Amino acid sequence: MVDMRVANRKRVLVTGGAGFLGSHLCERLLNDGRDVLCVDNFYSGTRDNVAHMLGNPHFELIRHDITFPLYVEVDEIYNLACPASPIHYQRDPVQTTKTSVHGAINMLGLAKRVKAKILQASTSEVYGDPEMHPQREDYWGRVNPVGLRSCYDEGKRCAETLFFDYHRQHNLQIKVARLFNTYGPRMHPNDGRVVSNFIVQAIKGAPITVYGRGSQTRSFCYVDDLIDALVRLMGSPDEFTGPVNLGNPGEFTIMELASKVIELTNSSSRIEYLPLPQDDPVQRRPDIALAQATLGWQPTIPLESGLRKTILYFEKVLGGEGKFSTDV
Ligand SMILES: NC(=O)c1ccc[n+]([C@@H]2O[C@H](COP(=O)([O-])OP(=O)(O)OC[C@H]3O[C@@H](n4cnc5c(N)ncnc54)[C@H](O)[C@@H]3O)[C@@H](O)[C@H]2O)c1
Repeated sequence: MVDMRVANRKRVLVTGGAGFLGSHLCERLLNDGRDVLCVDNFYSGTRDNVAHMLGNPHFELIRHDITFPLYVEVDEIYNLACPASPIHYQRDPVQTTKTSVHGAINMLGLAKRVKAKILQASTSEVYGDPEMHPQREDYWGRVNPVGLRSCYDEGKRCAETLFFDYHRQHNLQIKVARLFNTYGPRMHPNDGRVVSNFIVQAIKGAPITVYGRGSQTRSFCYVDDLIDALVRLMGSPDEFTGPVNLGNPGEFTIMELASKVIELTNSSSRIEYLPLPQDDPVQRRPDIALAQATLGWQPTIPLESGLRKTILYFEKVLGGEGKFSTDV
């Protein structure tokens, strides 16, 4: 006889599930009692990120590129597949746009066919180089359509358009999250993002590279907070589609971050000042009033404790206890 509790387990597809955020999301969904189908082409993610889940009978890993159609039976889809750091997404910009646009079309087509609810991991980059601080969801953004970042920014904007058109035209249940800077264990050690850069430099005793005087501010959300927000968004009432900003509104200067990392790693690294790149925003900070009101969510993990956990991870990886490889 079939155990109905088992038969009723929700089947959830996570695209980009072997990436930084995707692997944490898969873990969280397994802990919540879901059957998890992780799809990834290992462009910027790695099998090592999900190796510890492979023995779980409720976890399945499929190597697949979402720019090609996928036929699976699922109840919910989290669409996270897309390289997220400039180093990765600019390596093959055409593929980046294809992943955002063709990938969205394929996943929305799948959601329509199997009547699944679908969530898109969009980005604060849809606001481009904004004239409004902090950015609210009703701000339309200022994006260069022909620059080096456009493959990512415009790809994500087009994906949002597709999500809303499938919703209006086909009544699909959609959720669109605009993610701001998130950090934590399993970030790629050399993807050029400031938190991983500083931590890796500090552990190696190499100079910490600060652009300009380091007075520009950034906000950093710890991964567990972000994952909690994504799960809450998926479970929110049908009429709430987003877009909704998800991130940590706490602001820190780059110099504050550098000093904190040096202190927490006990590092002998010195700060090296480099010229400020032209497109470096002075400030990037989410307005999360909508997420607070609709999801009852706000980040709870302070920068210092998030950094401690991330440093521990990188110490293991760089000390050879952990492996890190990309399959590109
Ligand atoms: N981490 C952040 O701070 C942040 C901020 C804004 C938005 N996001 C979004 O969140 C999502 C996850 O980001 P992340 O930081 O975990 O990045 P990541 O690069 O670690 O993860 C992305 C995953 O998608 C996979 N992938 C890429 N192209 C694919 C394709 N065509 N088919 C199947 N899999 C593919 C990669 O191999 C990787 O495992 C991305 O969509 C990104 O745009 C992240």
